[in-house]
Amino acid sequence: MTWWRNAIVYQIYPRSFADSNGDGVGDLRGIVEHIDHLTELGVDVVWLSPVYPSPHDDNGYDISNYQDIDPVFGTLDDFDTLVETLHRNGIRLVMDLVVNHTSDEHPWFAESRASRDSPQRDWYWWRPPRPGMTPGTPGAEPTNWVSYFGGPAWEFDEATGEYYLHLFTRKQPDLNWENPEVRAAVHDVMRWWLARGVDGFRMDVINMISKDPSLPDGQPGTAGAAQGLLADGRPHFICGPRLHEFLREMHDSVFARHPAQLLTVGETPGISHEEGRLLTDPARRELDMVFQFEHVTLDCGQTKWDRRQLDLRELKASFARWQNGLGDGWNSLYWDNHDQPRAVSRFGDDDPEYRERSAKLLAAVLHLHRGTPYIYQGEELGMTNVPFSHIDDFRDIESLNHYRHAVASGADPDDVLDALRSRSRDNARTPVQWTNGRHTGFTTGTPWLPVNPNHTEINAADQRKDPDSVFHFHRRLIALRHTESVVVDGDYTLLLPQDEQVWAFTRRLDSTELLVLANLSRDHVAPALDPTPWAHADTLLTNYPDAGQPPSPFRLRPWEVVVYRRVVVAGS
Ligand code: NOJ
Repeated sequence: MTWWRNAIVYQIYPRSFADSNGDGVGDLRGIVEHIDHLTELGVDVVWLSPVYPSPHDDNGYDISNYQDIDPVFGTLDDFDTLVETLHRNGIRLVMDLVVNHTSDEHPWFAESRASRDSPQRDWYWWRPPRPGMTPGTPGAEPTNWVSYFGGPAWEFDEATGEYYLHLFTRKQPDLNWENPEVRAAVHDVMRWWLARGVDGFRMDVINMISKDPSLPDGQPGTAGAAQGLLADGRPHFICGPRLHEFLREMHDSVFARHPAQLLTVGETPGISHEEGRLLTDPARRELDMVFQFEHVTLDCGQTKWDRRQLDLRELKASFARWQNGLGDGWNSLYWDNHDQPRAVSRFGDDDPEYRERSAKLLAAVLHLHRGTPYIYQGEELGMTNVPFSHIDDFRDIESLNHYRHAVASGADPDDVLDALRSRSRDNARTPVQWTNGRHTGFTTGTPWLPVNPNHTEINAADQRKDPDSVFHFHRRLIALRHTESVVVDGDYTLLLPQDEQVWAFTRRLDSTELLVLANLSRDHVAPALDPTPWAHADTLLTNYPDAGQPPSPFRLRPWEVVVYRRVVVAGS
């Protein structure tokens, strides 16, 4: 069996994890110093967000050298120590591979922009201005695509009179994967890290590497009022014509030649479960699993800044679609990462009365689905969104650009700030809350992003001492996946799909069946399920101390989750 089917992955965003040298930014030695946190939790894999040299326009997702470590995070020796320490503790390491784009400060781009005749010109997407338009003026861009972080996806380069494509910031030019030299260079980088001992890759926006080479315009009117002339170009670069071919080529020339089995997970915004099945079907030799985005868009309108009330029925249906829709493929399971607001504030209830219970409930629901669960640093403590009060409190380029563009187009600054408070990526990026002390024990200096004031109530030191904490609940869930094969391999059935408060499902493997019952509300509820078959079930896990035998009829208190296990006898 592939080892990652019963593994749990823990994501480290190094800038915010732990600072060992007092410069206010987390680093590799800081991770080594906190290895006991990971071993006590029991995780199997660390996914490390980018640590490569970078100008940090997008906090390291803009890489200027693929084969080194940024001095702010340490050295290659520190990296080797980290790999060795993790491996000694039975934890594998997955690197973040950001190869849809580089930094504009990468030597490849410097060479490419040097002249129109550069031998590396074609490593990026260069195009002349739109005919008849004045270069550098609005509307002269080669296509009308909006960039993910606001404004046009093209930047004019005065020196050579052409534009380059950047789907993200203008400091993140897109590589041209049509060019076989680019693909070979990326494969070399991957082999270099594998030779250093890494165990796999998380691949940033990997479903954007193949663009329609004719670069058609997006449908006018699809980019939101604030974006003027611009339009949504996604149909022309999400899962483009050669995506599967490029991934198969990578698989065959890199992964398949590696002596050990790796973990490869692609970040793939905007895909359907049918596309997910193609990407993860082992017979097709592309990726092991993907991060899909369906469930994290259900509370969004046209953009992530337009908030919409979440309908639990849609959330359950989305999970069920992916559970049952991947065929021989495999799911990754996540609520949180460095791009998403904190799950307990978004899908749970961060009111102090319900925070811990709802954090545990979300963890149980996620981990008991079929797939590989991902925990984002601090999620195991139930860290919440942050009470940012002013635009100057934010550091994230996406948030700052959105504020600038929205206010310039007439939006009320208070409304924009309100949306940022619930949706900004900085919610996930405040330092991990280690203690209730100064700067929460993250740094002895000044943290690059201030700590959440609630670290006095939510912190690792207190939770590791408290067997009833969110931390220990995660530890029990992780242990359950390691010991109960039904959690890994059991069939999945969604129950009560129309219930607006209860999330109920079963997992079944041979004669073992689990029932997960969760109440995502502050009400007392009575799920309309027949309790008879569960009368003699064991209670495997719960977030209320006194849950004993299954009640008849079933009843759930506010934000209660209970997991029952029974042995199925013929006919029951
Ligand atoms: C997805 C990453 O997760 C995000 O943090 C980054 O800004 C974009 N890709 C661009 O690399």
